[in-house]
Amino acid sequence: MNLQLSEEHLMIRQAARDFAQQELLPGVIERDETQKFPTEQIKKLGEMGFMGMMVNPKYGGAGMDTVSYVLAMEEISKIDASTSVVVSVNNSLVCWGLETFGNEEQKMKYLVPLASGQCHGAFLLSEPEAGSDATSQRTTAADKGDHYILNGTKNWITCGNTASTYLVIAQTYPEKGHKGINAFIVERNSPGITLGPKEQKMGIRASDTHSVMFQDVIVPKENRIGEDGFGFKFAMKTLGGGRIGIAAQALGIASGAFELAVAYSKQRKAFGTEIMNHQAIQFKLADMATEIEASRLLCLKAAWLKDQHLEYAIASSMAKLYASKTAMDVTIEAVQVHGGYGYVKEYHVERLMRDAKITQIYEGTSEVQKIVISRDVLR
Ligand code: CAA
Repeated sequence: MNLQLSEEHLMIRQAARDFAQQELLPGVIERDETQKFPTEQIKKLGEMGFMGMMVNPKYGGAGMDTVSYVLAMEEISKIDASTSVVVSVNNSLVCWGLETFGNEEQKMKYLVPLASGQCHGAFLLSEPEAGSDATSQRTTAADKGDHYILNGTKNWITCGNTASTYLVIAQTYPEKGHKGINAFIVERNSPGITLGPKEQKMGIRASDTHSVMFQDVIVPKENRIGEDGFGFKFAMKTLGGGRIGIAAQALGIASGAFELAVAYSKQRKAFGTEIMNHQAIQFKLADMATEIEASRLLCLKAAWLKDQHLEYAIASSMAKLYASKTAMDVTIEAVQVHGGYGYVKEYHVERLMRDAKITQIYEGTSEVQKIVISRDVLR
C-alpha cells in the first residue's frame, strides 16, 4: 500500500476542505438547532462531483477512487456530519449498489441523475424488527408476474423524505430466509408510500430521517436488482463499501474536534499560561492524535483494498469499528479540553460529540462489526 497521496488526491482533499469552510461552516449550528436539511449545500456538492464520486463518468459520476472519497468524507465531516451522511449514503450505498449490480437500463434511468447530483437516494434495509438482524426482513415483495407489490415498514431511513430514489430490501419467499430476499429500485413518489414524522435525533440533526411505509406499492419487475433472491447479498456487499464511508465520517468528526481542541489549547490561559503548556492537556492531545492517525490508516487501507479490487469487507468493518470509537473518545476529550465552553453550542465540539455517537450505530453497530471481524478471525 502506497501511503503517498497523489497530486489529484491532494487537490480533491483541498476542494472538500475549502467547500466545508466556505459553504458548510456558516449556518452549521443553526441547521443543527432547527434540523434544517442542507438542500443548497447538497446541490453544490453534486455540481462539484461529490455525490457520485466513484461512479464512471459515462453514468454521470466523477470517476474518482475510494481513497479520494475517504479524503473528501473526512473534510466534510470535520465541519458538518449531517451533510456528510447524505454524501455517504448516496455515494457508497445507492450509487455503488446501482453501478455494481444494476443493469444498463437501470443505470441510465436511475444512476445518471443520482451520480450527477440532480437528485439523491436512500437505502431502505432497517425495519422495526430487523436492525442488526438484517435477515429478518418483514417487508414483503409479492411476485405478481410483471410487477411486485410491496408492503411493510422501514425504519431510520436517511433521506427518507428528500430522496427521489429508494433502494428497498424486501422478502419475496419467506420460507427461503435470506435467500428469498430481493432488492428493488422504487421511485419515492410511487402511490402507496407514506412517511412517519421526521425523527428528533441527538446528533446529525440536519439530516433527514424517517420511517417509510409501503402499502400495496407497485414496483415493475424491471426494477429488481440482480437475480431473484440476490437482495440480501446485494445489501451485505453494498454495506461493505458503505462502512468505509461511515468510518471516514467518524474520522472526520474526530479530526474536526481535535483541530478545535488544539487551537483552543493555544489560546486559553489557566494558571498563568496557555493550557497547551500543561501536561494534562498535552497527554490528551497525544492520545487523540494517535487514535486519529490509526483510524485514518485503517480507512485508507480499506479504501485502497477496494480500489485494488481486493477483498475489503473485514478491513471496512475494522475501520468503522475503530474510527467510530475514536470519534467518541476524541470528541469527549475535546469537550473536556474546552471546559465549560465545550458544553455550549458556539464552540462546535458539543455538536461533534453528539454527532459521533451515530457512527457506532448506523450501517451496522459496533457489535455487528465485531461479529463480522470475529467470524473471519475464527474461520
Ligand atoms: N458479501 C456477500 N455475502 C455476504 C456478506 C458479504 N459481505 N455477508 C454475508 N453474506 C452472505 C453469507 O455468505 C450468507 O450467504 P450463504 O447462506 O449463501 O452462505 C448470507 O449472506 C447470510 O449471512 P450470515 O449468515 O452471516 O447472516 P447473519 O444473519 O448471521 O448476519 C450480519 C450477519 C453481519 C449481522 C448482518 O445481518 C449485518 O450486517 N447486519 C447489520 C445490518 C446493517 O448494517 N444495517 C444498516 C442499515 S443501512 C444504514 O444504516 C444506512 C443509513 O441510513 C445511514
